[in-house]
Amino acid sequence: MSIYVYAADRISPKMRILSVSLVLLGASASAVLITNVHAFEGTPAGFRIENGEIADVDPWAAFFNPSFFISAAHVAVSAYMTGAFMICSISAFNMLKHRKNQRVLRFHRKALMLSLAIGGIFSLLTALNGHESAQMLHEYQPEKLAAAEGLFETQDYAPLAIGGFTDKETQEIKYAIEIPWALSFLAGNSFETVVVGLNDFPEEYWPPLFVHTLFNGMVLIGSFLIFLSMAGFVWNKLLKKPNFPKPFMYAFVIAGPLALLSIEFGWIFACTGRQPWVIYRVLTTAEVVTGSSQIGLLFILFTLIYVILAVAVLLVLKYYFKRHPVENELETEASRGSISIY
Ligand code: HEM
Repeated sequence: MSIYVYAADRISPKMRILSVSLVLLGASASAVLITNVHAFEGTPAGFRIENGEIADVDPWAAFFNPSFFISAAHVAVSAYMTGAFMICSISAFNMLKHRKNQRVLRFHRKALMLSLAIGGIFSLLTALNGHESAQMLHEYQPEKLAAAEGLFETQDYAPLAIGGFTDKETQEIKYAIEIPWALSFLAGNSFETVVVGLNDFPEEYWPPLFVHTLFNGMVLIGSFLIFLSMAGFVWNKLLKKPNFPKPFMYAFVIAGPLALLSIEFGWIFACTGRQPWVIYRVLTTAEVVTGSSQIGLLFILFTLIYVILAVAVLLVLKYYFKRHPVENELETEASRGSISIY
């Protein structure tokens, strides 16, 4: 990353692309491998428990557990989508800030359009893959899907509840919009698919019911961002309007933070929805929770380290861009006649 940023004027563009591609490769591999721990926790494989002992260990079967590919893909595509929408936010913010400087404006508009195209493609892929994740839950962790949708009774032609809050006492979702039959179709590609409700499981196996709100938040943000990129495309490319009206620009500015929020909703939903298990139907969270009295201190120290890192990154970036404003770069490139964005 440092080579890409700081050696810009010392190495060829091809080498810069190579350096940033290696960052992409490393970061993606790290995301996939870390996510696989979570995938294994949800769909454990590659071992048997015999008389309380672990037997027949097959590391490859554990690695390629049933949700490995789907989970890894969901995390990777949603991360690429979030990266694109963060660029969208920054470019839209700069376009609002530098309304008078045509050259800078054009530069940021180009970044905006590129980020909308990439964000649009990856948000569509995220939704398609999210659909597969839901089917995976239907097959392997049905109580998580039931909690995500506040479904208490097992049924075919099951409705999909959008919004609202799960009420445990009355066993219904309050204030939700219900789309008839849609949950059955989502779970098994047929309206006749029987979706198992929470009442078929002992109550101590139920995940916390607020996960419905987290699941909704993730899906709603994903759908909004697909809509936003499509609307941007129609406005700019089909209606051929070069300037976006203010409401559009404000929506672009919040797109990145919304995508980040969606990632948080997704992770909290996925891990809270697995409760009370740390490894599904093998090990409960209560069994593995640490008895250490230092957890509070550790939490504060970790938070402190991340705050220091975040502040350091922000300061370095601020300093760098203050010393290398985009205006200077555009001037230099234009005087060399080697820039194609005008
Ligand atoms: C648009 C429709 C979407 C659907 C149908 C969907 C579906 C799902 C499902 C079912 C899970 C739980 C998987 C599990 O517990 O194993 C999940 C988890 C997750 N989602 Fe989504 N999702 C959608 C959009 C998004 C968006 C827009 C983001 C972020 C930008 C996102 C990020 C995540 C993350 C980080 C997880 C946790 C990792 C995982 O379990 O795969 N999702 N999603």
